[in-house]
Amino acid sequence: MSRGPALAVVGATGAVGEVMLRILSQHADVWGEIRLVASPRSAGRKLAVRGEECEVVALADEAFDGIDVALFLVPGEVSARWAPVAAARGAVVVDSSPAFRADPEVPLVVPEVNPHAVRLRPRGIVASPHDTTLTLAPVIGALHAGFGLRELVVASYQAASGAGRDAARALREQISLVADSDLGTGPGDVRRAVGEDGLGPFSGPLALNVVPWTGELLGDGWSSEELGLREETRKVLGLPGLRVAATCVRVPVLISHSLAVHARFEGEVTVDRAHEILATSPGVVLYDQPEVGDFPTPADVVGTDPVWVGRVRRAPDDPTALELFVCGDNLRKGAALNSAQIAEMVAAELAASAGPSPLPAEPSSAPSSGG
Ligand SMILES: NC(=O)c1ccc[n+]([C@@H]2O[C@H](COP(=O)([O-])OP(=O)(O)OC[C@H]3O[C@@H](n4cnc5c(N)ncnc54)[C@H](OP(=O)(O)O)[C@@H]3O)[C@@H](O)[C@H]2O)c1
Repeated sequence: MSRGPALAVVGATGAVGEVMLRILSQHADVWGEIRLVASPRSAGRKLAVRGEECEVVALADEAFDGIDVALFLVPGEVSARWAPVAAARGAVVVDSSPAFRADPEVPLVVPEVNPHAVRLRPRGIVASPHDTTLTLAPVIGALHAGFGLRELVVASYQAASGAGRDAARALREQISLVADSDLGTGPGDVRRAVGEDGLGPFSGPLALNVVPWTGELLGDGWSSEELGLREETRKVLGLPGLRVAATCVRVPVLISHSLAVHARFEGEVTVDRAHEILATSPGVVLYDQPEVGDFPTPADVVGTDPVWVGRVRRAPDDPTALELFVCGDNLRKGAALNSAQIAEMVAAELAASAGPSPLPAEPSSAPSSGG
């Protein structure tokens, strides 16, 4: 095992936690101890990371003893309560929840777009954006650098797993209920078959359906995820006045979010130049040959790290605007991968500030070299 910083994974048993353990096993190992933390319900469970079985411990003050970096992959209220505890005990917190994204003293980081922000963390906490923002950010950050962004109009197609492990299970159960039936042919018949108890966290049945609602109701009919996408995109791009309007929709896809994007820029744009920018942007794959059926779909990109972009067109009535379709795995770039990338940047920073590691002492019996 390497002697890098000690890492706590808080929420190791959840949907994002499961993918995080896979990423930690696949990426270059920069960590010393890795400690797995979850609720008391999961204490004592054993999970595999870096090829070893590791016992889950319950979230408590002592869970952060000796920890340098703490990944928080837990619900917002749990992060709000415990991230400051971990930070006060000396850990740098990387939080995936909504708890700190809007806090002006907490940077909101997408390493492909604003990596410099990770060092400005007066509270010792760095936040990772919502999965929908993260699906959009590498693409729109690159186009902003090339063209200067003025306005975004976005419709999302969000997978069930974006609402967590129990939501993904609810979709599977709904699908098994409606398969091999003629449900979906009469008004309300899917809702009646699924029943209130079978809805899971969704505001309507998701099998054979789409639900134009994610998050909680905020002001004027907007949902928290729609306004969150707006504020988070502004914060990550450093464009506080950017015009953004979003409609967030849950669709019967298990993993991977998609977005249809209308992006307006400072001057005229061309598809050729947009292709050049997107083809060379980190974390982005350009997949745009509709004439042979090549465009991203959520089922095709699941399990992959980058976000995929296709259907790039210039708006028919506005030479300054582009239409795009973007897909990305909400559990990888949309959550675990982005947090892992941030944590690895912090690990590199900690290693640099610790200075060069001392050379191992030569054994006294070694012959001296040279004259
Ligand atoms: N799913 C996504 O696509 C996605 C994307 C971006 C960000 N996020 C954010 O990432 C966080 C985790 O999401 P998820 O989808 O992985 O949720 P999840 O599947 O419901 O998992 C929740 C995790 O939090 C733990 N937990 C819950 N209550 C706890 C408590 N009181 N003390 C300690 N641990 C507790 C659970 O442990 P037990 O197993 O012991 O209950 C589990 O490990 C959320 O804030 C979510 O908003 C999710």
